[in-house]
Amino acid sequence: MERFNPEEFVKEKIAWLRREIPGRAIIALSGGVDSSVTAVLGFKAIGDRLKAVFLEDGFMRIGESKRVVEVFSKLGLKVEVYDVQNEFVEALKGIREAEEKRRAFRETFYGVFSRVARNLKAEVILQGTIAADIVETKGGVKTQHNVLEQIGINPLERYGFKVLEPLKELYKKQVRELAKFLGLPDEVVYRRPFPGPGLSIRIIGEVTREKLDIVKRATLIVDEELADVECFQAFPVLLEGKATGLSKNGSRKYGYMIALRVVESEDAMTAKYVKLDWSRLEKVRNRIIDEIPEVARVLYDITDKPPATIEFE
Ligand code: XMP
Repeated sequence: MERFNPEEFVKEKIAWLRREIPGRAIIALSGGVDSSVTAVLGFKAIGDRLKAVFLEDGFMRIGESKRVVEVFSKLGLKVEVYDVQNEFVEALKGIREAEEKRRAFRETFYGVFSRVARNLKAEVILQGTIAADIVETKGGVKTQHNVLEQIGINPLERYGFKVLEPLKELYKKQVRELAKFLGLPDEVVYRRPFPGPGLSIRIIGEVTREKLDIVKRATLIVDEELADVECFQAFPVLLEGKATGLSKNGSRKYGYMIALRVVESEDAMTAKYVKLDWSRLEKVRNRIIDEIPEVARVLYDITDKPPATIEFE
């Protein structure tokens, strides 16, 4: 795309959405900038014929649903929260392999989301797919949960819905520009990206409730401690296996290993690890070790993309 013009883009997409949506539409918000921008465009186009929902799948960050509801309510828009955690945790049970996890997550998501959409009598689904999602999926790097790999057909179409993706030619930077233009608060505009399958792919190997609980607490600590660091993403990953450590009373223990990943990137296609201050790293390490006794080691990832990817799975 030539020089990006948010005003023109918004005008054009609103007209397009109005033409394409005769009845009701639905959008599932994730808390991120892509789905938030898509929702605001949708509301501008068709008002309350758009239903915005937040599916609490259990793999989101602590407090996310509350935050999303608040952000949208400040804009005068309503978001309904559905608690579907058990279905997701059950669906992922026993699965170890990364792409398998993504597949299970995806299938569960389609099943749950299409049920909610039908109940709300929506025929059209709005999705915040952006260019990088499609490029990475087609390139075989990994299957994003919202893109059907080889064919490029959105899987929700198989469920009989019409799917509209107004942002699909945009890159993250342009989406942020658009978010700003649409009046979304900075906490959404500059929100660090979060993968569709959420924390399930930040637990290496099998997902258990214990591991999920640990990675959630660690994520909260990292978010709090590194909120002001300029970076594209900063997050902990719970590694597989255990390492020896010493508990507070000096006895030997075997605890989990957490890797910290902090990267700088423009559009997620390439990334550089961030040379964080040692004192910063120590602060995060201290909080993780002190507040999460199940953890024995904190490691820092110094790999760029390529050769690594941003996420571990
Ligand atoms: P990778 O790990 O491929 O990540 O370097 C690139 C960007 O995409 C995010 N990511 C995902 N987003 N579904 C998503 O919606 C996924 O399955 C997925 N996997 C990775 C990742 O957080 C990074 O911003």
